[in-house]
Amino acid sequence: MEFSYLNSTQIHFGKNQIGSITQDIPREQKVLVIYGGGSIKKNGVYQQVRAALTEHTWVEFSGVEANPTVETLDKAVAIVKAQNIQFILAVGGGSVIDGSKYVAAAAMYSGEGWDILLGTHTVSEALPLGAVLTLPATGSESNAGSVITKAATKQKLSFSSVLVQPKFAVMDPDVMKSLPEQQLINGIVDAWVHVCEQYITRPTEALVQDGYAETLLKSLITIANQYNDRDNDSWRANLMWTANQALNGLIGLGVPQDWATHMIGHELTALHGVDHGRSLAIIQPALLRNQLEVKRSKLEQMGRNVFGLGNSADLAEKTIIKIEHFYCSLNVATTLTEYQGEKKQVIQTILDQLETHGRLALGENQTINLERSREILELAVA
Ligand code: NZQ
Ligand code: ZN
Repeated sequence: MEFSYLNSTQIHFGKNQIGSITQDIPREQKVLVIYGGGSIKKNGVYQQVRAALTEHTWVEFSGVEANPTVETLDKAVAIVKAQNIQFILAVGGGSVIDGSKYVAAAAMYSGEGWDILLGTHTVSEALPLGAVLTLPATGSESNAGSVITKAATKQKLSFSSVLVQPKFAVMDPDVMKSLPEQQLINGIVDAWVHVCEQYITRPTEALVQDGYAETLLKSLITIANQYNDRDNDSWRANLMWTANQALNGLIGLGVPQDWATHMIGHELTALHGVDHGRSLAIIQPALLRNQLEVKRSKLEQMGRNVFGLGNSADLAEKTIIKIEHFYCSLNVATTLTEYQGEKKQVIQTILDQLETHGRLALGENQTINLERSREILELAVA
């Protein structure tokens, strides 16, 4: 275990916390408020943000789509440059927050912003940003990651920089009341897989990381079990906080991490428009079966400590079935059915994209090459 750790995001959690942005954004800085397709205007979040910024000078940029595109975000970059913006406030889910991170970095760079995603430019400067979270799922509100799509080439790539980590995150569970069910479920699944990516690897002696990961998984099972009673404050608060903790860096400190499910899942989203969370439920069971031998020990630990299963020779296999039940209980598909054309061709196109993106050695052991990815996709594509 070796790591340096700082999570610098100030979190304001609970009801009526949106007002706290008044203090958190320096009054003299000109603000760009970035949001998505307009849900914040229907649920009152926009009005609360406007009230909190009465004394600030601010302009807005709307229309950031789910799986935000560089094509859209570059328009916001142009506004930042032209209007001398000094602070960015992201109001939305992971897409708006990720998009705002890109804008914060690209606005301080004279070249093509996409270079940041290609890795040909390393972020060395970024505008400060804050987040008002409206959808618990990605953890983007208090981490350094961002995932951006180039629509023209159907590429979905990510970058990470502490310089774009939000200065603050407002997490008011009340904002979840207007979430469509599909998005709520996406969030549960995404948070679940975030924990798994940092936990179902190989045995470690990291008691805190393992133990906390198991607590988060058990919380998500409880949240899923209570899904029918979801219209209450504690359910919302628990989901919002669990999703945040799943990807705020803590459980991944100094331990091996996988992320292959995410890398392959991103291609499904880019090529077939599958929601991010759902892409993960499609890939993960197939990937776990493909990687069963290297992951056996951790799957057994999960079976015992998370699902309460007894010891048996097939404990790891039973754990994977339990994971599938978790998705089924939320009505989330575990295979890709929504595609056109031949299965063989669909798989080949995904593999070609993985190759283009250099995703040739995925997983905690970097052993998921294109052949393993093909095997995984054979199981995952119906
Ligand atoms: O566009 P608006 O109006 O905001 O509507 C959104 C959008 O249509 C809607 N929504 C959000 N909050 C709402 C609401 N509707 C009603 N009431 C509310 N309170 O929900 C839809 C989906 O929003 P989106 O932001 O796309 O969802 P999510 O938070 O799941 O973000 C997904 C994106 O995050 C990336 C994904 O790849 C995907 O692009 N990820 C980011 C990560 C990170 N930064 O660490 C890690 C993740 O693994 C993930 O890859
Ligand atoms: Zn995710």
